[in-house]
Amino acid sequence: MMRLLQERASYNDVSLKKVTLARMNALAIPLADESVDTVVANGVLHLISNPEKVIKEIWRVLKRGGAYLCLDDRPGQNVTTPFDNSHYFEIVNYLYQEYWKIINQKGITPQKYSWKFDRNVTCDQIFQSKTEKIIERNQPYEISLDEGFLPRLMGKGFSDQVSIPNDIHQESVEKVLNQAKEKFGVDFGKVTFKGIEDNLIVTIFIK
Ligand SMILES: C[S@@+](CC[C@H](N)C(=O)[O-])C[C@H]1O[C@@H](n2cnc3c(N)ncnc32)[C@H](O)[C@@H]1O
Repeated sequence: MMRLLQERASYNDVSLKKVTLARMNALAIPLADESVDTVVANGVLHLISNPEKVIKEIWRVLKRGGAYLCLDDRPGQNVTTPFDNSHYFEIVNYLYQEYWKIINQKGITPQKYSWKFDRNVTCDQIFQSKTEKIIERNQPYEISLDEGFLPRLMGKGFSDQVSIPNDIHQESVEKVLNQAKEKFGVDFGKVTFKGIEDNLIVTIFIK
């Protein structure tokens, strides 16, 4: 993630002399109360063992009037994206389940993610106001599992609930792909899927 941040900064012409990159735990942010203007946390809350605690931490470090911007998976949100290949979810679910089966066999047992947690209910109780902005996309896209899905299985740093050593991760992904190749006769790492990107909703909570 740190390397990705560096790459993105240089891609967007942001000088790293003006930016401090730091790795920290969202459950205990090592920053003073009311010291931050804006917090952006996208796609994180649903991976955290105690999301309410993270929201309280965000509120604590924000200055009065500061903003918390988030764009993430909503619990209970329906996935309506029409895929050209109707087997996409079946395959992704298969790879995902088999991957975790292998990881479990190695004695690593992650907790379930907090899918039932409702971010808006908690934030509405803590923050004073909110607005929503829609980023219109509705664009067709094409992506291979290799580019889009498999990297998301990366256990190390994936969530605060599980840490999987890199060698075990690599070995498990390879095993799952071989298994899938035997079962379906297809090398899924290389398969490309088409879809339409949904609009994105950014919620901005104000302290
Ligand atoms: C799905 S990624 C989203 C990354 C990025 N925000 C983006 O939109 O591309 C989830 C990120 O949450 C981070 N994460 C999980 N638990 C965390 C915690 N307790 N504290 C800080 N970050 C955490 C993971 O390391 C991972 O980088």
